[in-house]
Amino acid sequence: MNNSTTEKTFFGQPRGLSTLFFTEMWERFSYYGMRAILLFYMYYAVERGGLGMNETTAASIMSIYGSLVYLSTVAGGWLADRIWGARSTVFFGGVLIMIGHIILALPMAELGLYISIAFIVVGTGLLKPNVSDMVGGLYSLDDRRRDAGFSIFVFGINLGSALAPWLVPWASEGFGLNLFGNHFNFHAGFSLAAVGMFFGLVQYVWGGRKYLSEDGMHPTDPIDPETRNKVLKRIGLGVLALAVVLGLMAAFGQLNIDNIITLITIVAIALPIYYFVLMLRSPKVTKEERSKVWAYIPLFIAASIFWGIEESGSVVLALFAAQRTVLHIGGWHFTAANFQTLNPVFIMILTPFFVWLWDNWKKQPSAAGKFAAGLVFAGLSYMWMALPGMLYGTNGRVSPFWLVGSWFIVEIAEMLISPIGLSVTTRLAPKAFRSQMMSLWFLADATGQAINSQIVKYYSSKTEVAYFLAVGIVSVLFGVVMFFFTKKIHNLMADAE
Ligand code: GLN
Ligand code: ALA
Repeated sequence: MNNSTTEKTFFGQPRGLSTLFFTEMWERFSYYGMRAILLFYMYYAVERGGLGMNETTAASIMSIYGSLVYLSTVAGGWLADRIWGARSTVFFGGVLIMIGHIILALPMAELGLYISIAFIVVGTGLLKPNVSDMVGGLYSLDDRRRDAGFSIFVFGINLGSALAPWLVPWASEGFGLNLFGNHFNFHAGFSLAAVGMFFGLVQYVWGGRKYLSEDGMHPTDPIDPETRNKVLKRIGLGVLALAVVLGLMAAFGQLNIDNIITLITIVAIALPIYYFVLMLRSPKVTKEERSKVWAYIPLFIAASIFWGIEESGSVVLALFAAQRTVLHIGGWHFTAANFQTLNPVFIMILTPFFVWLWDNWKKQPSAAGKFAAGLVFAGLSYMWMALPGMLYGTNGRVSPFWLVGSWFIVEIAEMLISPIGLSVTTRLAPKAFRSQMMSLWFLADATGQAINSQIVKYYSSKTEVAYFLAVGIVSVLFGVVMFFFTKKIHNLMADAE
């Protein structure tokens, strides 16, 4: 790279950060914009512009879709490392994502929905892990700007995620022009998501040429023909096994969406277990590293529970917004989808406080202690949501401030778990499993959402009090148990803390 890259900076950071910042901002804009309206698109009646699906199935699909998106990052990281290099992989991913949104923008009904899910799952798997990885690659290992660089990048994620739940629903309601009468035109909303991803791609290609390193054009650990054949064989076997399972399901008349969701749930739970066993048994992992892997297991479980609750914001809380919430404050009217802005908005508000806290709190808890506290907050955000039903019954609508409060509490949990988890993951990773360990971090989210896809079937306004209480209490209890083990986990982590 030439020297001009170090001369001009982006908030004091390498210029490449601005390219990655806007790429990921637009990608998250498209993803969370689509998610904000997708649930409603699925279950709203056809007359209102929806697909008229069963509400429970729609909620289950939302969760398993979220799970698949993070499951596929495992493949995305691998493909970049071994075959395409990060830069091309991110580009391919962005293109697939854009196509996915375009398909939803076309009136293709349920078929379009499933094809789009496939494109966006694969596309996000290619893009998401590698764009984050490239941020790390902008800095040498001892560059002091590294952490700040990641904070800025995360801010971009949340900026895109915060704007989309306003703009995308607004498009699906006719841009404030009453274009679609009382109906929604969700396809218009999905088009806007596609446009967002398009902007992201254009500036990625443009800026990438000038500011991103040539290194990213090549795989870091190119695959040799022998390994490639081995991998192809394994993929072949996997596809065959899948075909057999699906074939058997079909033969027994069990090939339906519910069972496919259950199948994916099993994979999402089995995969992290497989990874842990692999690492614990690998001869490439030293004794000291093995103890760190053990320490990571409770952190992983905690993260899964946390992400399960956090990600249910676009499913369970979205249903609560649509069915149980007054959709105006005084004369200010909004839609159920707009609530999705609260998660990223609170992250942006809380981040400076937590950065300050970790810089200044001398006797701050260990990572495990922060995770334990995070679980307690996540659980409380759910138990809080049991209150309106307990106080006023579950038939009418309640103040939007209940949801605002719940999101505020769960975002405290997110601050205690998400950034801490990312950094602890890199520090606990055995040398031979660096990128796989990063995949494991995303798998915690996948596992949490897979479990959601099963339990969300029990959610409705009639059961909401019990649902919020049960899930909330489980999370709080896990948090409390974890407090008792923080010392032990801390010791297992050895020098990584
Ligand atoms: N919400 C964040 C994002 O979309 C984090 C997701 C995660 O780490 N599982 O990037
Ligand atoms: N909570 C989502 C992610 O952190 C928006 O960024």
